[in-house]
Amino acid sequence: DLTPLYQAFANEQLVKVFHACKQDIEIFVHDSGLIPYPLYDTQIAAMVCGYGESISYENLVMDLVGASPGAIVKRALAEHGSDVAISFSGAEDVLLIELAQQSGLPYRVFSLDTGRLHPETHRFFDAVEKHYGIRIEYCLPDGALVQDLVRKKGLFSFFRDGHAECCDLRKVGPLRRQLATLSAWITGQRRDQSPTRSHLPIVQHDPAFLGKGGTPLVKYNPLAEVGRDEVWASLEGFGVPHNELHERGMISIGCEPCTRAVLPGQHERDGRWWWERASDKECGLHKR
Ligand code: ADX
Ligand code: SF4
Repeated sequence: DLTPLYQAFANEQLVKVFHACKQDIEIFVHDSGLIPYPLYDTQIAAMVCGYGESISYENLVMDLVGASPGAIVKRALAEHGSDVAISFSGAEDVLLIELAQQSGLPYRVFSLDTGRLHPETHRFFDAVEKHYGIRIEYCLPDGALVQDLVRKKGLFSFFRDGHAECCDLRKVGPLRRQLATLSAWITGQRRDQSPTRSHLPIVQHDPAFLGKGGTPLVKYNPLAEVGRDEVWASLEGFGVPHNELHERGMISIGCEPCTRAVLPGQHERDGRWWWERASDKECGLHKR
């Protein structure tokens, strides 16, 4: 349904916001009006639809162009209060927690404990709780669904059937339930992490999940434009806890059976679901 896009382009201010996305987009003039045609990122269309829906969202997007990660985190907390939470699992997410702490505002943190994480990851979570004096809201999978899967297909069905089925039960379902209690979430995704993230916006309407009461969910990606080395330099500078698995060559860390060390020069995502193609390496948390 292109109606929201027509509406968005009928409004001059919204066109300005559209330019602020800094994405490559072709504009086709149709008999019926102007249609923005995203070349390779359907998220842009979703964003434009978002502009059509709410003027305050439009202002938010404008305000955050060029903002620092700290300012983005602070704005998210100020906008949404206790209806926003940081989605925590890896090194980048500790930086988000650190920035939230520095903002002086109250903040919430949740983590999807799939039941297949490394013990080292659990110890890292515990260290983060202690370092910041917080309680992480752990989200666990539906036991009956996981039980059905492992009884039917065994404990390692993802190596044969692909990771989507297991990730759906252990990550996506719990995430959907958690997000349905929020109006926004904050992730540690970066554009340089993967080809699937190369056009990641700083803020977007979540293209896959809904928030509280079935309303559109705002998704903040404050580190979208930050590189891996910059993240690590900041983490070292702040002296915050890290997952000891990084010392064993793992960079991007997920569940134990689906994560392995990478060699120097290899891309960090090569250590995740290595038996699958790069374009398939999203577990459903971050649909485009
Ligand atoms: S994944 O989709 O491949 O698993 P990745 O590990 O790159 O994601 O992490 C990207 C962001 O997704 C993290 O910065 C974090 O915000 C969120 N995330 C990933 N895994 C989890 C998890 N287990 N619990 C909570 N958030 C997570
Ligand atoms: Fe299952 Fe692997 Fe996905 Fe974890 S990463 S939920 S073990 S398929």
